[in-house]
Amino acid sequence: MRSFLNPCFSLHFKHHTFIIPLHMSRLILDSSNPPEAGSVLWRSPSNIALIKYWGKHGTQLPQNPSLSLTLASSCTDTQLEYELKEGSDDGQIALDFFFHEAENVAFRQKVVVFLESLSPEMPFLKQLKFTIRTGNSFPHSAGIASSASAMSALALCLCSIEDRFFGTLQDADAFDQKASYLARLGSGSACRSIFPQAAVWGLTSMVAGSSDEYAVPVGEIIHPTFKDFHDDILIVSSEEKSVSSRAGHALMDGNPYAEPRYAQARTRLMRLLEVMKAGDLTEFGKIVEDEALTLHALMMCSNPSYTLMRPDSLAIIEKVRQYRADTGHPVYFTLDAGPNVHLLYPGEVVVEVRKFIEDHLEEHCEGGHVQQDWVGEGPEEV
Ligand code: DP6
Repeated sequence: MRSFLNPCFSLHFKHHTFIIPLHMSRLILDSSNPPEAGSVLWRSPSNIALIKYWGKHGTQLPQNPSLSLTLASSCTDTQLEYELKEGSDDGQIALDFFFHEAENVAFRQKVVVFLESLSPEMPFLKQLKFTIRTGNSFPHSAGIASSASAMSALALCLCSIEDRFFGTLQDADAFDQKASYLARLGSGSACRSIFPQAAVWGLTSMVAGSSDEYAVPVGEIIHPTFKDFHDDILIVSSEEKSVSSRAGHALMDGNPYAEPRYAQARTRLMRLLEVMKAGDLTEFGKIVEDEALTLHALMMCSNPSYTLMRPDSLAIIEKVRQYRADTGHPVYFTLDAGPNVHLLYPGEVVVEVRKFIEDHLEEHCEGGHVQQDWVGEGPEEV
């Protein structure tokens, strides 16, 4: 497999029984027996939410549970190199940061803030000097949110080094759980990227072991048709989002529909899990499209108000509805908090849907750009 870091993969699906406490004793390196310098490299994918996380409280805790499909081709590779700091711990995070081989001050600053926030739980972070080399499999200008893949890749690297130094994450489920927990602290949606196929983040009576603190895998309980799903991302605009996720979530605090929305998301999640177990594509499409439109409606009626769809996003939605009515093919849309449209459909109609995209939808995409993706098997350590 080719990447700028040239990785190849090995991680497999793990069944989950979450038993290991997250907040363990302080993790401090013994300076009389210092670890050797080393590095770790993870590739982690993005994910597409079907039930949306929109609204949070406390320390990155979700107002409602969400469900996503894990993607395969939109990934971040992150290599974390570490060595013991010279002299004593100076109370600072020491980090050099390279994005696609160039130093990146803005990304470095975000990661420093993130590592700083983790250091009370993981004091060894301040005993080491780090170099991060990272990059995405998709062009930075593609308008695809990279925080889920980037933060999950970084969280996995941190778990690998914690386990290397302290042996605290030998249990595969404990490892994934902590990676998901750390990823969440970096970016909420990132916690769902740790798992293959599909994940639920947020407490729900429908999923044993579910939690607001981390995501859990649900790939094992969904119908095989959803494991063979495509997500072709129609890039309507690659411009920077007009409102950041952080600001968007905050707008929910003053939104008059916030409470009914959170209740609706809980109900929809339960129903979606049922139809995904049963393999009911029609009902799946109804819920998923309703969710996407609800997210955009919430943004439209927030204060200030945002219209994140573009005329081309709406044109695509209309054409998808018409195509479905004409052909009966199961193809559905969803959107994140931006103008790009994700087309979701099962592998059995890939030839027909790709032709439909080429003939009728590419004209609505910036430079005709479509990022082809599909349901994947989760992160891989290289
Ligand atoms: C619309 O995870 O990007 O994509 O926690 O502030 O980093 P932060 O937000 P983020 O929000 C994602 C919102 C969404 C829906 C979703 O992925 O569930």
